[in-house]
Amino acid sequence: MLITILLATVVLLSMVLDSAWLLTQEQQDLPTVKPNASLNVKFDPQTTKLTWDCRENASSGECVLIHKEKGLIKKKVKDSECQCTFQDYSLHGGVTLTVEVHVNQRRLSEMLVYTNPGREGTAAQNFSCVIYDADFMNCSWAKDRAAPNDVQYFLYIRSKKRIERECPRYLKDSGTHVGCHLRDLSGLTSYSYFLVNGTSQETGIQFFDSVLLLKEIEQYNPPDNITVQCNESHCLIRWEKPRTRQPWPNREFQYQLDIQRRRDTSSSRSQLIVVFGDSGNRYNFPKPGSKAKHTVKIRTADARKAHWGAWSQPVEFDSSRATGYSLRFHRSKIN
Ligand SMILES: *[C@@H]1O[C@H](CO)[C@@H](O)[C@H](O)[C@H]1NC(C)=O
Ligand SMILES: *[C@@H]1O[C@H](CO)[C@@H](O)[C@H](O)[C@H]1NC(C)=O
Ligand SMILES: *[C@@H]1O[C@H](CO)[C@@H](O)[C@H](O)[C@H]1NC(C)=O
Ligand SMILES: *[C@@H]1O[C@H](CO)[C@@H](O)[C@H](O)[C@H]1NC(C)=O
Ligand SMILES: *[C@@H]1O[C@H](CO)[C@@H](O)[C@H](O)[C@H]1NC(C)=O
Ligand SMILES: *[C@@H]1O[C@H](CO)[C@@H](O)[C@H](O)[C@H]1NC(C)=O
Ligand SMILES: *[C@@H]1O[C@H](CO)[C@@H](O)[C@H](O)[C@H]1NC(C)=O
Repeated sequence: MLITILLATVVLLSMVLDSAWLLTQEQQDLPTVKPNASLNVKFDPQTTKLTWDCRENASSGECVLIHKEKGLIKKKVKDSECQCTFQDYSLHGGVTLTVEVHVNQRRLSEMLVYTNPGREGTAAQNFSCVIYDADFMNCSWAKDRAAPNDVQYFLYIRSKKRIERECPRYLKDSGTHVGCHLRDLSGLTSYSYFLVNGTSQETGIQFFDSVLLLKEIEQYNPPDNITVQCNESHCLIRWEKPRTRQPWPNREFQYQLDIQRRRDTSSSRSQLIVVFGDSGNRYNFPKPGSKAKHTVKIRTADARKAHWGAWSQPVEFDSSRATGYSLRFHRSKIN
C-alpha cells in the first residue's frame, strides 16, 4: 500500500530516445514515442532500487542518479540485470534517475524524476544526532513552519544490511515527536540511514533523510583513570582512552589538557595542551616553580576532528610533594 503511494508520486518521463533527444527540445515534443519501446522504469525509495523491463538482446547499460549535493552518480549495469540500487544517498531533496541500455545496437534511455511527496515545508527541520557515553544516541529535530498542528513525525534508522528499526523512545513537545533516545546501538553500521517521515489528517508530510557516519556524530567521554605523579623535577600526567562505541586504537584519539593553578581566576595562567593518542596517553612537564596546588582536566576528541567532548573532573595535584591521584569514572546505565 505504502509502496503504491510512493510510486504514484514518481513522475515518470518516459520516452524513446534517439541519441539526440537530450540535445534538442524540439524532438522531445515530436510524437515519436513507440509505446512498446518503453523501459517502464520504476523507482522504489524504500529499497532505493531502480528497476525496468528486461529486454531481449540488451547489452551493457548504465544507471545515473543526479543528486543535488553529491552530483552525478553512475552505475554500470550487467547485461542480464534490469536493476540498479543506489544506497547511501539521501532522497529528501529529490533525485533524477536515468537508465540507458543498448538493444540491438539501438540506445534506449529513460529518465525519471523522483520528488519528495507531501506539502513543501512540512518536513522535520534541523535534524541532528549525537552518540554519547558509548552506548546511547539522541536525535532531535523540529517541526517546520508549514507543518500542520496535528503533524506527527516518526524516525526510522536503517543499517547497511537494510535492517530497519523505529525509534524506541520518542521525546515529545506537546505530543509531537521532536527527538529520539536510543539505548541499543548494536546492529548499526558505520554509515547508517536516518529517515523522519510524518503523518497528518490535513496534508501530506514531506520526509527528511540523511546518511550519517556514526564516528562523526560520536561525542567522546573524558579519559578514564587520570593520574598525576610528580618527582623532584617533573610531573607526569597519565590517562586511559575512554570507552567508545567501537574500541578504536589509541591513535584515533586526541586529548586536550587544561592545567591550572588552583583558584587562579585569570585564564592567562591556564595552559591548554593538545596530545595525540599515539604518544602513549601521557604528558610530562617540568614541575611548576610555585608550591601552589594545581589541577588538570582532560577532554577527548577524534584525532582528525577537534570535536571535543566534556571535560573530566579536575584532578588536583600538589607539585611540592610527590603525589598520585587516581580518578575513575563509574558509568551506570541511566534510565
Ligand atoms: C512492438 O509493437 C508492435 C505492434 O504492437 C509489435 O508488432 C512488436 O512485436 C512489438 N515489439 C516488441 C519488441 O515488443
Ligand atoms: C535478438 O538477436 C537475435 C540475433 O541477432 C535476433 O534474431 C532476434 O530477433 C533479436 N531479438 C529481438 C527481440 O530483437
Ligand atoms: C539524551 O537524552 C536523554 C533523555 O532525554 C537525556 O537525559 C540526556 O541528557 C541527553 N543527552 C545528550 C548528550 O543529549
Ligand atoms: C533551525 O536552526 C536554525 C539555526 O539554528 C534556526 O534559525 C531555525 O529557527 C531552526 N528551525 C526550526 C524550525 O526550529
Ligand atoms: C515511514 O517510513 C517507514 C519506514 O520506511 C514506513 O514503514 C512507514 O510506513 C512510513 N510512514 C509514513 C507515514 O509514510
Ligand atoms: C590507573 O592508572 C594507573 C597508572 O597508569 C594504574 O597503575 C592503575 O592500575 C589504573 N587503574 C585502573 C583501575 O585501571
Ligand atoms: C623525574 O621524572 C622525569 C620524567 O619522567 C625523569 O626524566 C627524571 O629522571 C625523574 N627524576 C628523578 C629524580 O627521578
